[in-house]
Amino acid sequence: MSERDCAVRVDGLVKTFRSGIGMRAKRALAGVSFSVREGEIFGFVGPNGAGKTTTLKILMGLIRADAGSARVLGHDVRETEFRRHVGFLPEAPYFYDYLTGRELLRFYAKVCGVPRSERAARVAMLLDWVGLAHAGDARLRTYSKGMLQRVGIAQALVHDPKVVFLDEPMSGLDPIGRKEIRDLIVRLHAEGKTVFMNTHILSDVEMLCHRVAIIVQGEIRYEGDPHAVLGEDELDTEVVLTGVVPALVEVLEGREFGALRGLGERIELSVPHKRVPDVLSEALAAGAEVVSVSPRRASLENLFLSAVGQGARR
Ligand SMILES: Nc1ncnc2c1ncn2[C@@H]1O[C@H](COP(=O)(O)OP(=O)(O)OP(=O)(O)O)[C@@H](O)[C@H]1O
Ligand SMILES: [Mg+2]
Repeated sequence: MSERDCAVRVDGLVKTFRSGIGMRAKRALAGVSFSVREGEIFGFVGPNGAGKTTTLKILMGLIRADAGSARVLGHDVRETEFRRHVGFLPEAPYFYDYLTGRELLRFYAKVCGVPRSERAARVAMLLDWVGLAHAGDARLRTYSKGMLQRVGIAQALVHDPKVVFLDEPMSGLDPIGRKEIRDLIVRLHAEGKTVFMNTHILSDVEMLCHRVAIIVQGEIRYEGDPHAVLGEDELDTEVVLTGVVPALVEVLEGREFGALRGLGERIELSVPHKRVPDVLSEALAAGAEVVSVSPRRASLENLFLSAVGQGARR
């Protein structure tokens, strides 16, 4: 990937926290490298404490790395000029809850340098965009968590940035709230923005992200396509049969097709991909009925668990 197509490029980031004299130093990042292409939805995935927020804070210029480099839109993150092209939703945004949504956005629009004459229209457009037009004049303390998260996203967009960084945008939301945020992210992508999101909600990543990096204990364990990670042959297929006679169970067990579950006439088998035709012909020959044959997709969950498993949990 050329430097030009890179929205974010991180190379060998190291960060150690020293909490105080006599306290053990905590290495949060141990040489983290990855890159994000312009226009993609990128998932930065990892378990709690992996180093996601630390990386994001370095990218936002909020803390300094001990070593390595971080660039956003070709600029070193220690520069400030390019920041007007960057939007940020922090992990635990603190909102002044006595303000209304509209007042909050006007405040951020001012801080971010949106010209006074454009602020009101910009804020009205954003409230509408995140589906809060009806609630713009209600105080934030009356907002639900999903509404707060949406006003937080609107806040990250006040100055129409090219790259948007979201730290756990779906955390704590119910399925409807998560869907609303996912829809907003898809729309950001459609508008040509680059979206970088920290998360550990794998189903959201699977649905949304073009590429992912998986971080565990401060190290990148995987970077690439979240869908094309395991070869098909490694995966099992779930075969469900009914009308199963005991003799068939014996045959299936005897030929060691794979894990067999179930009682009586109905059984489920996890069969290696290549042996599915054999199982089906044995089953049909014994008079059983095939209820379903479902290839198990390589899920991000598998990838995540195997990436985490590469290093023993500390
Ligand atoms: N200011 C700090 N002082 C000391 N240790 C810190 C500090 N900030 C983070 N850490 C430690 O660095 C590690 C990485 O933390 P970080 O917040 O980056 O993880 P995360 O991947 O964002 O986790 P989560 O999913 O829980 O948000 C953790 O072990 C954390 O305790
Ligand atoms: Mg975090």
